[in-house]
Amino acid sequence: MPDTHLIASILAIEFLSLTGQQSLTNLTYIPHCPSFRGPGHTRFIMEINSLFDVKGKVVLVTGGARGIGRMIATGFVANGAKVYIASRNAQACEAAAAELTAQGPGTCHAIPADLLSLSECERLVAELRRREPALHVLVNNSGATWGAAIEEFPDEQWTRILTLNLTRTFTLTQKLLPLLEAAGNRSGTTKDKNEDGGPAAVINIGSINGLSAPAVENYSYSASKAGLHHLGRHLSQTLGPRGITVNTLACGPFDTRMMAHAFRNFRDVIEEGNPLGRHGRPGDVAGACIFLASRAGSYVNGATINIDGGVHLGAKL
Ligand SMILES: NC(=O)c1ccc[n+]([C@@H]2O[C@H](COP(=O)([O-])OP(=O)(O)OC[C@H]3O[C@@H](n4cnc5c(N)ncnc54)[C@H](OP(=O)(O)O)[C@@H]3O)[C@@H](O)[C@H]2O)c1
Repeated sequence: MPDTHLIASILAIEFLSLTGQQSLTNLTYIPHCPSFRGPGHTRFIMEINSLFDVKGKVVLVTGGARGIGRMIATGFVANGAKVYIASRNAQACEAAAAELTAQGPGTCHAIPADLLSLSECERLVAELRRREPALHVLVNNSGATWGAAIEEFPDEQWTRILTLNLTRTFTLTQKLLPLLEAAGNRSGTTKDKNEDGGPAAVINIGSINGLSAPAVENYSYSASKAGLHHLGRHLSQTLGPRGITVNTLACGPFDTRMMAHAFRNFRDVIEEGNPLGRHGRPGDVAGACIFLASRAGSYVNGATINIDGGVHLGAKL
């Protein structure tokens, strides 16, 4: 029995190449093929507001009260999402949630948690499951760093940094699978291949320090981020078929508390040494997350995307 949907798709593509058309907007309706619902529908799904829509999505951003996590949470709230933020400082979480909700049109909610601890991760997940039937987007952003000369690098700063930056990304993804799967299946992914909805998205915040050797001695940090990038590739293969994409943003320098010392002492070097002459801005990282979380990014899986102005590619000689 021939697959009529497949044949219709192939005919449509051949039609486009024969007529030199760039889009399907002028095509007539092809019956029974879920991707082709007529010119109006095709135009609608290509419009920015539909293609990049994250309105109503439920999002968890770890470390969302400040720094890069705050930038990401702000972007989602500004586009109508319901965002949860989680980190150790309860007061900072509550204050950020109130400020972002006041900005709207989405909302922001605090569930403070120390993600170094397995039981705290479990408590966060249980609380989220109590409040929501599905999670559309998980942004694993919480992170820490440590720097010391190789002779003095403390053993405990390997355990702490690798646990928070790498292991807990796995822990949260693992424990949130039922909620992520519920979101992916709900909005139609692998089983329903029409153009509406999309997979759930796991977005890990990596670093260019995990791509090339850093100038500073942050051994456990760079190793944790390199591991995180590869964990994302591995998980993309396991979770793609379950309706969840997994991608990593390898961030370059952003002016946050983590980078306060570097920006205080080397701002000129950081900015002038970048091909784009600047550090990262909130829209850079929020925009990438919204892309990955929306239908526009729903075919991106297992990618490591540099959000760094291209600085990690530059030769030092
Ligand atoms: N800034 C950069 O240039 C840059 C570059 C590449 C990658 N990154 C990555 O971006 C992410 C965010 O860093 P940032 O630059 O925004 O620095 P930051 O301002 O220091 O933010 C770190 C975040 O992690 C949270 N956090 C730390 N320990 C935690 C714990 N035990 N449990 C839960 N949350 C914890 C912090 O909140 P609490 O203190 O309240 O727990 C804070 O929200 C990190 O993964 C970092 O590696 C940053």
